[in-house]
Amino acid sequence: MDWFDGKTVIITGGSTGIGAAFAEALAPRGARLVLVARSKERLETLARDLRSTHRAQVDTVALDLAAPGGVAQLVSALEAAGATPDVLVNNAGFATYGAFATQGLEPQLDEVALNVSVVVELTHRLLPGLVARRGGLLNVASTAAFQPVPFMAVYGATKAFVLSFTEALWAEYRSQGLRVLALCPGATETPFFDRVGAAEASVGAKASPHEVAALGLRALLEDRPSVVHGFGNRLGTLAPRFVTRAQAARITESLMRPRTTAALPAPRSAP
Ligand SMILES: NC(=O)c1ccc[n+]([C@@H]2O[C@H](COP(=O)([O-])OP(=O)(O)OC[C@H]3O[C@@H](n4cnc5c(N)ncnc54)[C@H](OP(=O)(O)O)[C@@H]3O)[C@@H](O)[C@H]2O)c1
Repeated sequence: MDWFDGKTVIITGGSTGIGAAFAEALAPRGARLVLVARSKERLETLARDLRSTHRAQVDTVALDLAAPGGVAQLVSALEAAGATPDVLVNNAGFATYGAFATQGLEPQLDEVALNVSVVVELTHRLLPGLVARRGGLLNVASTAAFQPVPFMAVYGATKAFVLSFTEALWAEYRSQGLRVLALCPGATETPFFDRVGAAEASVGAKASPHEVAALGLRALLEDRPSVVHGFGNRLGTLAPRFVTRAQAARITESLMRPRTTAALPAPRSAP
């Protein structure tokens, strides 16, 4: 029997991209889905499609997870819908791009809130139930987690957090039967880069979100703490082990450097 059959799976960022691909992969496997994102319309369009194509039970919760009280609101909505989570997929996330101080503070704090604080709070609130039901926790990190990422300094740091946090929980909870995985995609063909708004933020060919989600679901059922999508990405994430930290930061800086001067740090003024 499919492990996901009959399980209630909460997918944050479940309206587009990798989150929607998780939903499309799980609906035919008998999972009950709860999709969470801000856009009610996009969520409902996907949910309607999954209900009619796969007869899946799909609920949607439209809210801003990073707004004050957003996670508590989601937990109340789950209770009201009688949805007892077996699996949590912390997938919602976004990136900003450009030299740190040229970017507004507010979007970068929002990035930390969604990519880090929401992940910690939602995991903390749901984990006892996930453990009790010997369920799963799948957190979406990134290949950005493996080295500092100049011009995406905050994003890289948030994903390093997600990877470290998730691998630690893997070691803490595996003896209790909880499956825990950090999924680390490289560049993936989703609306993610529209929000980033800079071509330089994407390095290498883009993978299909369906392949990325499928790998995550497969790896969650194996006893490993993290998985990187794609052979080239796996090599790339190993490379920092063979150079100094300064070299790793300098190499990434040259790959990520903006092609326009607007996003570069202001030149130092003469003394
Ligand atoms: N695409 C890539 O190249 C790539 C590579 C590595 C890792 N990742 C990671 O993969 C995850 C999914 O990204 P994606 O590529 O699938 O991007 P995406 O298509 O932009 O999906 C982001 C999802 O998060 C939702 N979301 C954004 N802000 C939210 C908020 N404040 N509250 C609730 N939901 C929110 C979005 O819906 P609404 O806008 O309607 O809220 C959408 O459903 C992210 O964690 C990202 O960092 C992506």
